[in-house]
Parts: sequence; structure tokens; C-alpha cells
Amino acid sequence: MFKIIVVDNYDEASSEAFKVMKEEVVGNDKPVLGLATGSTPIGLYKKMQADHKANGTSYKNVVTFNLDEYIGLPKDHDQTYYTFMHENLFDGLDIPESNIHIPVGDSTDVPAECVKYEEAMKEYNIDIQLLGIGANGHIGFNEPGTSFDTLTHIVELKEKTRQDNARFFGSIDDVPTQAITMGISTILKSKKILMVATGENKADAIYGMIKGPISEDCPASALQNHDNVIVIVDKAAASKL
Ligand code: GLP
Repeated sequence: MFKIIVVDNYDEASSEAFKVMKEEVVGNDKPVLGLATGSTPIGLYKKMQADHKANGTSYKNVVTFNLDEYIGLPKDHDQTYYTFMHENLFDGLDIPESNIHIPVGDSTDVPAECVKYEEAMKEYNIDIQLLGIGANGHIGFNEPGTSFDTLTHIVELKEKTRQDNARFFGSIDDVPTQAITMGISTILKSKKILMVATGENKADAIYGMIKGPISEDCPASALQNHDNVIVIVDKAAASKL
């Protein structure tokens, strides 16, 4: 079931998302947040940092799990999601490092890391999972064609996804070819889902997610099977609904 909130622009989308997140952070004794990377959540993360600084909202009891991570880059590489999350969120909060979970992309045994990550989430139960969406409807790194039954697994990155991300690396050859991602089944286990999307290039994906057939061709359409999804979209992303 979708609760759709349409706003005017990116900043308003970030503010609405912040309200939802803050409610979880202050309303739970031990909030468990599922977090995402990409450009979409940056505005929300800035608001979380600003709120912590101005109002002292504490993250000492917050536990986090990130959706995905590249395989093969050392943790401290400037393009890992580990680095992204610390720079854009964690370094500005009082969250203990031991409460932060991100798949270990330079593990010597990646299949075992996937199992371990899934097990750790089972112990905690994610209260709210933040998601962005790819223009082709992907969530996390679950590209079209991914089975809805998937748990945390290894993916071969699509050429298009690598090209999209090449701007962050020196050249396309430096972009990893594989990643670890929570699966679609993993994502659906979260008690609540918060999807944020802005811009016209997300309009088809948002349409497919909400109004399209439930199909592996649009991974986000799996969210139609979840009973508590908050969708925050600007008018451009909502334009095909
Ligand atoms: C990437 C990430 C996704 C993200 C998507 C959209 O491939 N793995 O988690 O939602 O791209 O990114 P953006 O928010 O930059 O549009």
C-alpha cells in the first residue's frame, strides 16, 4: 500500500523525508534504519546532520544497514559507499561506529559476507528502509530481471549503471564490475519503506512502481506487495501517475 506525498521540488522532498525519518529516530528505543546512497538522499542526510547539531537529536541508539556496496574497492577508497555514508551522514552524527552496517565489499569471501549480512539484519528487523529508484526501476543494485525472492547477493553491474557512475571515477575502467546488494525479498522484510524520487527522468520508474504490472521488469513494482510504503515525489517524478 502506497501513501504518496507530492511536493514541489527536491528541497521539499528532503524536508518531508526528514520528518518521516526523525519520527522513527525519536519514536523508537532502538531504531533500525535501512539507508541508501545515490544523489537523492543527500538532502535528507544534510537535514539529519543539521538537526543533530542544532537540536541534539541523538543517534547513539540507532542501528543502520546500508543497501549495497561495490565489490573490490578498499573501504577507504573515495568511491565506496562506506566513504559516501561517512562523509554525507555518519561523521556529522553521534552514531557509534559499531552500530553501522555496510556490506564489506573487499571481503576475501564475498559469498560468506552476503550470508553474514542477511543474518545480521534478521537479528535486528529494519524499522524503515530508505530507497531511491533507478530510471529503469532498479532498487539497491537490483536491476530489471532480478527475482523477487532474492536475499543479499552479488550482482554483475549493468554496462549502463557503470557508465552512469563513471563520472565519479577516473574512467569507466575504474568502475567496479560487481556489487553486493540487499535482495528484493530482503527489502520487503522492512516494516516500513520510504521511497524518495525527484525529477522527470524518474517519472516512468515511479509510474511502473505504482501503476505498472507487478513484474521483474520493474524491480520497484515489488513494493506493491508491501503494506506500508511512503512515496515522496516531486511533481516532475509524479507527472505520469
Ligand atoms: C544507484 C544506487 C541506488 C540509487 C540509484 C539512483 O544505482 N545503487 O540505490 O537509488 O542509483 O540514484 P540517484 O539517487 O543518484 O538518482
